Amino acid sequence: MEYVFTDDCLIGVDEIDDEHRELFRLVGEVQALLDEGDMEDRYDEICVLIERLKEYAQEHFRHEEAYMESIGHPELDMQRQQHALFCCKVNEADILSTGSNKREMIEDLLSYLVKWLYQHIIGSDLLIGKLVSMEEWKEKEEYDFSEQYLTGIELIDDEHRELFRILHDIHDLIANDRSADKHTKVVDALENLHKYMQGHFRDEEQYMESIGHEGLEVHRLAHDVFSTRLELMHLNSESLADEDELEEFVQFLFEWLDTHILQMDRNLGKRQAGN
Ligand SMILES: [Fe+2]
Ligand SMILES: [Fe+2]
Ligand SMILES: [Fe+2]
Repeated sequence: MEYVFTDDCLIGVDEIDDEHRELFRLVGEVQALLDEGDMEDRYDEICVLIERLKEYAQEHFRHEEAYMESIGHPELDMQRQQHALFCCKVNEADILSTGSNKREMIEDLLSYLVKWLYQHIIGSDLLIGKLVSMEEWKEKEEYDFSEQYLTGIELIDDEHRELFRILHDIHDLIANDRSADKHTKVVDALENLHKYMQGHFRDEEQYMESIGHEGLEVHRLAHDVFSTRLELMHLNSESLADEDELEEFVQFLFEWLDTHILQMDRNLGKRQAGN
């Protein structure tokens, strides 16, 4: 994976975008030092840089969490956990060990960092500017599939249209169904959504392969992160019984789909048109 900050990672909040860009730049700087050759000469410099990277990440997390708190973002707790895990992992990395495999250790750390950053930014941070508090969400107009989502690729557009339809059904079910077997219906509906999503991701990835789309790797990562979140929700049947959490999850699904299509899927059609 390349150490570049691409437009796919832009969340639309300038301060946070700048800090993400700087994180990528720092990772790239460490990689450049590694690539320069003799590891022993560069070792101290590399350690200092990694220290700076750690500190910068921690400071960035603090800013991000404060921003999320200020807008009442529903995923604050989840983000806090993810950030804490990241800090743990980076602190654990024993780069000062005197063993002969220093280079390997630093390379492993870098690939962890960059993968985590992509996954985290695309899977969670992208929604920072999007998700609203539950009160606001309930007042919001429902989402419909509209022209803005068109990629110009028929198969993909049809599948997106169907995804919106499935989501609407799930939303209806959660909001209006009062029957005794509602819980089973919700589980079935989410399973159905999951299956449809998997098929759709496969189709999209196949299409990207067929046109040699250069952003395939990051795009695939975005699909994987989303699938993981859907699977987690499935397993967590306690949340499935809680209406507010379900409603929150539906908001996440709509906003994810909206953001993902506008920010990533639409590029597929653009490139096809020769841009
Ligand atoms: Fe974050
Ligand atoms: Fe996609
Ligand atoms: Fe898609």
